[in-house]
Amino acid sequence: MIEKENLMLREGALKDEVIIVTGGGTGLGRSMAEGFSLLGAKVSIWGRRLEVVQKTAAEITAATGNEVSALACDVRNYDEVETSLNLVIAKFGKVTGLVNNAAGNFISPTERLSHRAFDIVLDIVLKGGKNCILACGKYWIKEKLQGNVLSITTTYATTGSGYVVPSAAAKAGMLAITRSLAVEWAKYNIRFNTISPGPFPTKGAWDRLFPEAISNRFDFTKKIPLGRVGNHHELANLASYIMSDFSAFMTGEELIIDGGEWLKGAGEFNFLDMIKPEEWDELEKIVRGVKS
Ligand code: HXC
Ligand code: NAP
Repeated sequence: MIEKENLMLREGALKDEVIIVTGGGTGLGRSMAEGFSLLGAKVSIWGRRLEVVQKTAAEITAATGNEVSALACDVRNYDEVETSLNLVIAKFGKVTGLVNNAAGNFISPTERLSHRAFDIVLDIVLKGGKNCILACGKYWIKEKLQGNVLSITTTYATTGSGYVVPSAAAKAGMLAITRSLAVEWAKYNIRFNTISPGPFPTKGAWDRLFPEAISNRFDFTKKIPLGRVGNHHELANLASYIMSDFSAFMTGEELIIDGGEWLKGAGEFNFLDMIKPEEWDELEKIVRGVKS
């Protein structure tokens, strides 16, 4: 559970918000839902497994005193999404925000994937994200309400990445939808942003992306300039800011929170981190020597 003292916004900052978090029963979705609820929002968490979302909702409500609804909803199915949205509106009177967080992902050489394996990830992430955006967007536009969409992407939505190609394609698609609708639906006062986290430990991601057989052989914190993985409250704070009116002028943004990981991979000479301070004397001599 996120601790109240780790939140940056003041108590009650989200008290007028009703926020849907897809995949909110576990991992980062759960942590964001906890943060929103601690700040006074009414939250509805969706996932395929009813027992998981129900348990999480009960635990969050017990900790925050704020109501959390739990719905079994497979975001791949538009009718289920629309029905769930209507249930949230009926329960809380309105919906003000959507966090597209539900995802499927696993590492695999692409040539080993069946077309169904590729589709399952595309369908959860891109089709599911599109379904939720379309259902909420139509509702906000029809009711002339302002809306706010946050999609959880990844840094490789921009860079691409081998071994998670369906996920890279789907997240890139979500980034494209975000940047496109941020402009097209600004006239309806609907905002779109994404957060691209670097590694934040969750069971869902770790089991499928960093299984022990790999993490034993490779310390991936070495890829991260700040030398550590993310803390869930750091993501929950950023997400709370985006879901609040404090960020009302921000739209179409991708906010990266990864300890500098992707830049380290991209910068041409960042590999020179491996040179020890005492080795630089010798290297400097060699480099200066070129001139004379
Ligand atoms: C190859 C695989 C596979 C694997 C499944 N498939 N796992 N192929 N390697 N490891 C294939 C199956 O054989 C099948 O194809 C097809 O994919 C569908 O698989 P099912 O098991 O029937 O699907 P389902 O039960 O719906 O499970 C979906 C899932 C699963 C995506 C495969 O992992 C899941 O439920 N994930 C949800 C949570 C999740 O992934 N969380 C991590 C997000 S982390 P065939 O052809 O045999 O029918 C994340 C972080 C990114 O995104 C960045 C980190 C830094
Ligand atoms: P997680 O705990 O496995 O979360 C994924 C959630 O999505 C689960 O609660 C799952 O619940 C739900 N889900 C999957 N398919 C669904 C569907 N068809 N309909 C509705 N819900 C569905 O993993 P996580 O690490 O917290 O990931 C959360 C988000 O952060 C994802 O978008 C992921 O890509 C992103 N992310 C994570 C990291 C990281 O380091 N953890 C880094 C970058 C980005 P059910 O199985 O019950 O449906």
